Formats: sequence, structure tokens, C-alpha cells
Amino acid sequence: MQQKIIILDFGGQYAHLIANRMRRLGVFTEIHSPTASVEELAGAKGIVYSGGPASVYAENAPEYNPEILNIPVPKLGICYGHQLIAQQLGGMVRPGEVKEYGIANLQLKEASHPLLKNIPTSSPMWMSHGDKVEKLPAGYRIIASTKDCEIAAVANDERQLYGIQFHPEVTHSKFGSQLLDNFIDICKCERNWNMKSYLPLITERIQKEVGDRKVFLLVSGGVDSTVAFVLLNRVLGTEKVLGLHIDNGMMRMDESQKIIEFLKAEGMNNLRVVDATDEFLGRLEGITAPEEKRKRIGATFLIVKDQEMAKLNLDPKEWMIAQGTIYPDTIESGGTKNADLIKTHHNRVKEVLDLMEQGLLLEPLADLYKDEVRMLGEELGIPHNLVWRHPFPGPGLGVRMLCNNQKTSDFETYAQAAGLKEYLTENHIDGHILPIKSVGVQGDGRTYAQPFLITTPNVDWKRCERYSTELVNRFKIINRVIWQVGSVSDEMPTLIEQYATRDKFDCLRKFDNICTEFLQENNLYEKIWQMPVVLTPLTVNAKPCIVMRPVNSSEAMTANFAEIDQKLLKGLWDRFMAEGAGSLWYDVTHKPPGTIEWE
Ligand code: XMP
Repeated sequence: MQQKIIILDFGGQYAHLIANRMRRLGVFTEIHSPTASVEELAGAKGIVYSGGPASVYAENAPEYNPEILNIPVPKLGICYGHQLIAQQLGGMVRPGEVKEYGIANLQLKEASHPLLKNIPTSSPMWMSHGDKVEKLPAGYRIIASTKDCEIAAVANDERQLYGIQFHPEVTHSKFGSQLLDNFIDICKCERNWNMKSYLPLITERIQKEVGDRKVFLLVSGGVDSTVAFVLLNRVLGTEKVLGLHIDNGMMRMDESQKIIEFLKAEGMNNLRVVDATDEFLGRLEGITAPEEKRKRIGATFLIVKDQEMAKLNLDPKEWMIAQGTIYPDTIESGGTKNADLIKTHHNRVKEVLDLMEQGLLLEPLADLYKDEVRMLGEELGIPHNLVWRHPFPGPGLGVRMLCNNQKTSDFETYAQAAGLKEYLTENHIDGHILPIKSVGVQGDGRTYAQPFLITTPNVDWKRCERYSTELVNRFKIINRVIWQVGSVSDEMPTLIEQYATRDKFDCLRKFDNICTEFLQENNLYEKIWQMPVVLTPLTVNAKPCIVMRPVNSSEAMTANFAEIDQKLLKGLWDRFMAEGAGSLWYDVTHKPPGTIEWE
């Protein structure tokens, strides 16, 4: 039996990240509910209690099975998990005086402890908590602390129980992976997990789930659905699979064409293509709210799919619907029981959940993270340049086109952010709060607030990073910070009415394509993980203001804004100007507190 470590999911959006990080260290991980029975968890070499949004003492705290603590394997509690174990054993958890969000320096008290092996005596770790353990249960000792949190890492070696207040699973925690690696050593778990070993498992699972039926898959053309389509064709054969590519009018430049050519060249002629631009744009008419746009786009995909299935006269009983959903898509929509709703992914709308309930939905990649999907793609022989295309969301450019029907006076201004003017003067920053809103993520919840635009020239990335962290932490009305690469005028941008229309998408597509070419020409395309380009409802001199959002990430749950050489940006701005842009802005917000997409 494959050795494994089990993660108990208390619902924090970081829970699956722990599983992903450990898998990358070569260990098979499984996520289970904290209410699982001891029998269900049999075979685990170690158990991790994840973080989560609740308080251990709150009435709505997630249910859990206290017997799990008696399973005789090493256990690691992270944030909420750490607090829960401490409470269960008689310790005390209270709201902290200081809520800690962001990087804190972890000072080791016992550097020789196996959990802290190869971690420097002072190292940056990511904190995200309001509560803290105030009194430890008997048998524990503190092995590391931070300035605001004395009980930051604890151990009870006799019972092999460990607890940490910080999040080792996020990339901001520089030695977090090392800590998880140390825990794997403590568990003595085999490290033999990779996509080569996963392929036979997933093949068997697909064959079993599909049985005698056939599979109908929506191929958006992104990396995930392309890998899913190729995988299904390999496992089931082309005659049992039918792909439908719906061009929703929100694709990148020439994208549909490129996908079709590749699949045809691979011998997969079982792909139908339909241009449904009018249908999608019709349903988005007059709509501005991001969640509503997402819902409508998701629902329209299914309507068009049904129309096409009706044309083909396929019997719904004979055909399963497949989609290339991956793990983060489910967790961020509140898909696991204890997670807060962050935002609705198009592949988790009600219609899809109904199909799932009836056993008509196949999601062959639903266990995998982006990096694993890519590894699987390479394992299946899909060319490198296709597998390494930047991820592209299902709703496409639809979530990169900010729509607006409000007036400037409907938005917050300086008056609502006490101390902001003083902060800007102190730091010699010029700029404005913009009258638009974008989605963000803070703690385990979702934000919808305004960006701050820094217009000071020549601000290096380190300063941008500092300002962005400080502005978002201090001023609630700001959840994102952008820096001005170039503008045709010094005047304050004007807010315009904007809807998801064909000409607006053509405009966004054009600038998005210029950005892609810029990355390719400068040999940056594969160095940057993803770069959404966003059309805002703001103009200067009646020309559109556009945001570029280059990020680095490995699994999309967290991300850092990517630092492109500022000298190169001059050339990009020249091209933008020549093509009629009013301003080019560069998003300098990490995730959290920003999200990768703006909606
Ligand atoms: P956020 O904006 O939440 O995005 O930081 C994380 C990753 O998910 C992608 N994304 C989506 N992918 N359907 C998808 O298939 C969606 O509705 C969707 N929304 C966001 C996003 O591009 C990023 O890679």
C-alpha cells in the first residue's frame, strides 16, 4: 500500500496547499474531513491538522473526531490545527492582542530539534491569525517564537505532537518547505509520489467511473482542459470521447485556432468547435457585478453545451460530462465543507453541482494542482510549449474586463481613509485611490475594494512591495496597489460606463497580445507564471487605462507579483502608446492580499 500523510481539512484556503507542498516533496497526501473515523485514516504515517477560518472556542467551530489524536503516529498542527490540539489537551486559546497578518521573524530556541533541522535561527515565516495559544498543555515545550507570538512552535516529543502558529505551506515562509520536509522525516514516510506513478491510478479510476458510457468534454483550450482531453482520449480512445470547444468571444488572440490545429495534428478529430460569441455577449448585456458575470458565463457555457448536445442528439444517459477542474477551483468556491466562499468558479455553479449529484460529471484532474497537471501533460507527451502556456481562467477575458455603471462619487475617497494623506507625504508617494474595485483575499475571506495608484516615477520594486503591503494593511478601502509605468497625461483618470461588449474585448485582446509578445520577445514568458491584462473603466485623454499583472506562483493559492526589469517596460509602454492606450499600470500586490485575477 502506498504510504501517505493525511491532512485534516479545517477549511482554511491553505489546507490543500499543505497537501500540495508535501506531494512536491515526494510524499503521497490525502485530504480528509476532521470528522473522519479512525478506521478511515488507517495507514497514515503522519497526520497534519490544517489551518482554518474559525476560532476553536467558537460555536460554529468545525466538528472533529477527538479520537484521531490517539492514533499513534506523529501529528503536526498548523495555526487553527495547533490551537485545536492544544485546547483538546487542556491548554488555553484566546484572541491575541495583536492580530498578525504577514511576515514575522521566527527565532529558534532549540535549533537542534528534528522539526527545525536546517532552518536558520532567524527566518521569515507567514503569519495569519487572530487567536493564539496562551497556555500550553502539560508535556509541551516552546521550540521557537516570534516577537508577537511566544508560542510559535511547540513540541511534545514523547507523544510526537508538534504545533506551529505560522503557515509553512505558503511561499512567503522561506523555510516552510524545509519544516514540512522535517516533519516527513519524523513520520518516516516513503517519498515515491510522482505523475508516472499516478497515471496508472487515474487511468483505472477513469475506466471504472465511465464504464460503458461515453464522455463529452468542454475544451476551453487552457492547459487543464487540454490535458484532460488528451488524457481521456488516451485512456478511453477517440471514439468514446467528444470534445466541444466553445468560442465565447473572450479568448486570447487566435487562441481557438491554435488549439484546434494542435489537437488535429495529434490525430484527435473528435473536437467540435462552435462560435457562441453572440450568445455570451447577449447574456452579459448591462451586467457589471463580477460574481453575476461569472455566474452568467458559467451558465451560458452549459446552455450552449446543451444546445450542441441536442443538435448531436446525444442521449444524456449515455454521455457523462467531463471538465478539467483542478483542486484549487473546488476549494476556493467553498467546495470543501469548512472553507469560506471566496469566489464562484465557473465550474462550480449550481448547474454543475446538479450534474455531480446525479453522477453525470467526470473530473479527471480534480485531485491535482496546476504543477501536477503540467507534469501529467508532459508524461502524456503533450509538447512543452503547450503545457507551459500561462493558465487562463474558464471565463477568459470576461474576468479581466472591469464593467461599470457607477459614478465617481459612489466610490470611497481620501476622506474615508484617515491618515492616508500623512502616510503618502511621509513616504514621498504621489498617487490616488482609484474609483474602481477589484477582488482580493485577506485571512480566509474575500475583499472587494479599491486600488491605490502610485504615480511617482522610478520607484524600485522593493519600495513598491513595501508600499503595497503597508497601504493594504493600514487602509481598509485599499486592497490592491498598482504602479504607473506610463501615462499620456498627468490628469486624474476619468471613470466611464463600460460593459462586456465586442469592441471592448477586441481592445483588451489587442493589448493582452502585445503583452504576451513582449514576454516572449524578452525571454520572460516561462519565467513568469501568469500575467492577466485588465481593461479598466478608466481613461486618460479618452484612451483606455490598462493593468498588467505579472505573477509568480506554483499553484495559484498564493503568488508574488513578478519583478520585470523596469528598463524593459519602457519599450512596452511605447507599443501601448502607439496602439492608443491612455495609461499602463503594473500591479504590485502579492496574493494575499490581492487575487491573481481582478474579478
Ligand atoms: P485568483 O484570481 O483566485 O486566481 O487568484 C487563481 C488562479 O485561478 C484562475 N482562475 C480561474 N480558473 N475558472 C478557472 O478555470 C475560473 O473561474 C477562475 N478564476 C480564476 C486564475 O487565472 C489563477 O490562475
